[in-house]
Amino acid sequence: MHDTGEWQALSAHREALEGVHLRDLFDRDPQRGERLVAETDGLLVDYSKNRLTDETVAMLAALADRIGLRHRIEAMLDGKPVNTTENRPAWHAALRRPAPPPEVRQELNHMAAFATEARDGRWQAVVNIGIGGSDLGPAMATAALAAYADQDLEVRFLSNVDGAHFGAATRGLDPARTLFIVVSKTFTTTETLANAITARDWIAHAVGADQASRHFAAVTASPDKAQDFGVDADAVFAMWDWVGGRYSLASAVGLSLMIAVGPDAFADLLAGMHQIDEHYRTAPWAENLPALLGLIGIWNRNFWDWPTYGLLPYAQELALFPAYIQQLDMESSGKSVQADGSPVGTATGPVVWGQPGTNGQHAFHQLLHQGTDIVPVDFIGFCQPNHGLAEHHDLLMANMFAQAEALAFGAPDTGDPHRSFPGNRPSTVVLGDQLTPRSLGQLVALYEHKVFTQATVWGINPFDQWGVELGKTLASGIAAELTGSATPDPNRDSSTQSLINRYLSRR
Ligand code: F6P
Repeated sequence: MHDTGEWQALSAHREALEGVHLRDLFDRDPQRGERLVAETDGLLVDYSKNRLTDETVAMLAALADRIGLRHRIEAMLDGKPVNTTENRPAWHAALRRPAPPPEVRQELNHMAAFATEARDGRWQAVVNIGIGGSDLGPAMATAALAAYADQDLEVRFLSNVDGAHFGAATRGLDPARTLFIVVSKTFTTTETLANAITARDWIAHAVGADQASRHFAAVTASPDKAQDFGVDADAVFAMWDWVGGRYSLASAVGLSLMIAVGPDAFADLLAGMHQIDEHYRTAPWAENLPALLGLIGIWNRNFWDWPTYGLLPYAQELALFPAYIQQLDMESSGKSVQADGSPVGTATGPVVWGQPGTNGQHAFHQLLHQGTDIVPVDFIGFCQPNHGLAEHHDLLMANMFAQAEALAFGAPDTGDPHRSFPGNRPSTVVLGDQLTPRSLGQLVALYEHKVFTQATVWGINPFDQWGVELGKTLASGIAAELTGSATPDPNRDSSTQSLINRYLSRR
């Protein structure tokens, strides 16, 4: 990739922009802020406060053409085996089609029937047990759509194997009125199984072992394992190997969310995702929101060498959105080899982090404004709140606009170096009308496809995650030693062994 003419041209172009301030770009071009935006179906992306010009966008579009991005998008959306290291499709787009494949439709109907029954007052609480992609999507979306949820039903999320999380997730709940949904594509994830077993004991202790299965549902691509665990066959929901964990919110992994907000709101979420899928497939690059975000991500990461970016929702309901996108982006983009196994040759995925504004302004924005590193950020906000406190919303959004303005333009020099605001710090604003199931679906698909765009440029496979395996293997060996079923590994390093020994002697 980096040896193509398009890449070389972008490198030279980036050199030419050295020392050009965002202030200059706006002064020279009064319409810049109206022109360097893209919009689809109520969702606006303003990318004018990035260090780029119209020429940059045209050159990035040429890069997209050079790497065959359009063809790759079609291959993904049409279910071709784009996950090459696992030889299967990454066909999450099929889950949200208005006319999905029959097995998807059947499972959506199964979910709707189950969710409708679960919402009829039988349960006080539903606890989703899962981790990573089997937790973050429904946890994020349930928090995001709290205003649309059944207020009489508590939906909680249990992910960490830390027993403190089990305690917190079940605190105050009546086991006789609690439903657990065990979500695990593989049904082998140790944290999830440990929590599921403890939950089963907790239920059995209260209602009797023979009644425990009535309190469990499961979502998995290994239905036999779920039934062996004790879940009734009709409460086991399917996942397919062509749905990756971090791309699975629209599948039955979203069952807890559907129970919280109801089948109609869930359908709206899917419709928002599908709208972006089709926009991504068809819109020209300069109007294509996910492609633009991805290409600007490449521009910032590879040509400006900025190693992180912040995701700052000015929406408290999106408090978990940065954590959700962190998994989506970092598990997808944290790769050093291309799909064919050869070294990638350029920097790949940035570190993704963030939390809601305005809280972050009183925490880490100091570094964004005056630190020695440049940190591009995405602001996400909405014109209408999901509450009646209009003045609060005006204040919130005033802060978001002000932060983007201050980062870009700084302030005139007062002569006091401590109070100097140099500006020229890039940001992108994603502005929606209102946070609804549909717009949340748009946002999720927007970032999914941003990640796909970047991965396509880098030539990496964004749908595998081999890098998480070594830690799992080592942990199971150490766990065997901690529980006394294995002796110390004589080849283990002295640091790890000493720490284990100290733990064993003091626990
Ligand atoms: O963290 C690794 C991972 O494999 C994620 O990709 C996945 O979302 C998570 O573990 C949970 O996996 P499972 O759904 O199989 O329990």
